[in-house]
Amino acid sequence: MPKTPIKYLVAIFAIFLTGTTVQADERYDPVRNQVVIDECGACHMVFQPQMLPKKSWVKIMNDLSDHFGEDASLDASSVKLITKYLQENSADSGWRDGKFMRGLSKNSTPLRITKTPYWVREHNEEVPQRAWSDPKVKSRANCPACHRRANSGDYDDD
Ligand code: HEC
Ligand code: HEC
Repeated sequence: MPKTPIKYLVAIFAIFLTGTTVQADERYDPVRNQVVIDECGACHMVFQPQMLPKKSWVKIMNDLSDHFGEDASLDASSVKLITKYLQENSADSGWRDGKFMRGLSKNSTPLRITKTPYWVREHNEEVPQRAWSDPKVKSRANCPACHRRANSGDYDDD
């Protein structure tokens, strides 16, 4: 039996690795579930679940009656369905953690994407302070104000 040269195995693994990295990190899968789109897109863009860990989504979904000062309550079956979807696609759902897990301590449960260490670092480095007070932006959570393709999960705009 001819032995498989180790370098081929390494090359195949490298392709597998980079392929997956591009998918998991450079683009965030747009939400495809219609219930999530309808219920979580009524007041703001439908945030991609890859941007928070499972436990954050669970906490958000358990507290919808007091959701950032608004009542976003839903019936029990929608809560169940949406929670499942968010968990299955969360930052820590893959075989390898997504970028939004970077620097996140084990005992912190951020309720905002804009409070995660990864988000804060990316924006502190690149966004001048005055950009946040632009009347077109209004809130840090208003991703589409700066990322035109945010809804399709593309934040890599230059
Ligand atoms: C009734 C309106 C409303 C609905 C419906 C709603 N939200 Fe929100 N949500 C808000 C408001 C208001 C904020 C705060 C926005 C801000 O700070 O600019 C917010 C903020 C958030 C944030 C934090 C954004 C950040 O990083 O700062 C997340 C995550 C979030 N919502 C998830 C959800 C999910 C998941 C659903 C569906 C179950 C949902 N929202 C449905 C009103 C709503
Ligand atoms: C005031 C404008 C502004 C707002 C609002 C904003 N961003 Fe950004 N964001 C930027 C800039 C500028 C960069 C750095 C340049 C780049 O890579 O596009 C950046 C970088 C990023 C990156 C890294 C992109 C990469 O190259 O990997 C992600 C992910 C991201 N933002 C997500 C978000 C999300 C999610 C929201 C909303 C919760 C948001 N941003 C809100 C301006 C903004």
